[in-house]
Order: sequence, then structure tokens, then C-alpha cells
Amino acid sequence: MERFSKISDSTSFIKQLKEEGKTIGFVPTMGALHQGHLALMRRAKAENDVLVVSIFVNPIQFNSKSDLDKYPRVMDDDIKLLEQIRCDVLFSPSVSEMYPEPITKEYDFGILGRVMEGANRPGHFNGVAIVVKRLFDICIPDKAYFGEKDFQQLAIINKLVKIENMEVEIVSCPIVRENDGLAMSSRNMRLNEKQRKLAPFIFETLKSAKEIAAGKNVYDIKQWVEKQFINKKEFELEYFEISEPVELQPINNWSDAKTAMGFIVVNMGSVRLIDNIRIFNNFAVSN
Ligand code: PAF
Repeated sequence: MERFSKISDSTSFIKQLKEEGKTIGFVPTMGALHQGHLALMRRAKAENDVLVVSIFVNPIQFNSKSDLDKYPRVMDDDIKLLEQIRCDVLFSPSVSEMYPEPITKEYDFGILGRVMEGANRPGHFNGVAIVVKRLFDICIPDKAYFGEKDFQQLAIINKLVKIENMEVEIVSCPIVRENDGLAMSSRNMRLNEKQRKLAPFIFETLKSAKEIAAGKNVYDIKQWVEKQFINKKEFELEYFEISEPVELQPINNWSDAKTAMGFIVVNMGSVRLIDNIRIFNNFAVSN
């Protein structure tokens, strides 16, 4: 595996590969790699000649310094995993390498950027978009791979590619779950033993909501999910929303969208967990 921390070294190496006719599959990460990341990397490797991975804990996408400080950093373990998976190129820059100048860019993602994570984490998607644009410029991928756990991020990145007129193909990959259903996330390693045991309740609730959706209206399902978290002191439900899957606007009736998605954010202590589920596809409910 080739390792670069300087933008110019990384770009000239990748340019050379592209001149040789090789295709580049890219997986951007913030490290603390888990099986979810590895699934993206395996797919990128299978579909391209070269696998490029970046590890960069992007300070401008965090809403608080304490969340940034607490983000797990385990570079030695990450490198072992990348070597096992036979990653070709690792790009892991410093903050000053990525951001030598003050950042002024402001993206407007329209209504997509103003709901859920856009509303609850001001500036987060701008930070994600700025870093992803820079990483794409540096790593020049043919295809870039993102997980559906961060479904709104994926929608934002698809929009970013259009706004910036970039040639990269965005490949969305299904959520990878632990055996007990918990969506894999780098943040899971910050759960204590008790929290980790309880955390699968989040996905269980989503699955139950999906199961009972056919007999209830959208409002009832939202109320039902909210009720499940009342008096559960280990969980603090930040939001549960039912939305259409494109601009992620909340729906009031099942008939408002062909596919509805349920989006949830739950805090367990200081650990913020996010998950989603497709609630229905083929049932019609009169409201
Ligand atoms: O999903 C992530 O890990 C990050 O948001 C990303 C896309 C690597 C940008 O920092």
C-alpha cells in the first residue's frame, strides 16, 4: 500500500495510474474503520483497478469541539485493516494540508439541506461537501462509495456532484449491521458495555414501525416510535421523521411518496447514533 499525506504526492501518483488507463475506486473515511467501511472497500476494489482510501477527521463537519475531540482515532489499527484488504493507496493528510487558508465556501443544497441533519447540525453538510469536493479533486476517482446509513449525506453528495459538475459516479451501498442489528458506525466503539447491549433497540423499533405501518397513518407511526423511547433513560430520541427518499421532505400521508423512509437519531449519553429504514413500498393506506 502506498501512503501519502501530501496532496501533490497523492494526486501525481493517482494521475499516473489514470494515464496508464486504470480506474480509481475511492472510499473517503474518517478512520476508526469497521466492517461497514470494509464492505465499501471490497466493492470499490471489485469494480475498479485501484482502491484509494482517505482517512481524515474533518474538523469543519463537527458541530462541537468535544464531539471532534472524542472522535476515535486508531490509525495503526486502520492501517492493518487496509493492508489486509489490499488497499492500494491511503491518503491521510493533516488539517493544515487540507485547509491552508480560511474556509469561506457556502453551499446551498436547497430544501434537502434544511431538514433533519441539516436542521439539527448547522454547517455540518457544508463541511462534508467542502471536504468531499477537495478529496475528489485530490484522488480523482471514477467511482466513490458511500454507505446508506448516512442517507442524507449521500443525497447531499449526489447534489454536490451536480452543483460542481464533477465526473465521479457516486455508488450507494446498503447499511451493514452487527449481528444484533445495530448499524455499524465508528461511534459505536464509544458506547459503554451497557449502552452497547441496549443499542439494538433502535433498529428493532424501526423494524417494528415498518411492520405496523400498513395499518396506521404516518402521524400514528411517528407518535408510536416517540412513545417507545419515553421512560428509556439510556436513550434520548433526537428525532424520528418519515420522509420521501429524494429531497427527504417529511410526508403526511403514505400516498405522498412511492417509498417512505424512516429516519432516526438517538443519543446514548454523548454518543449520537443514526439509522434509517425503508418503511413501505407497496401498500396503500387511506389516511
Ligand atoms: O461519512 C464520513 O465518514 C464523512 O462524512 C466523510 C464522507 C468521509 C467526509 O468527511
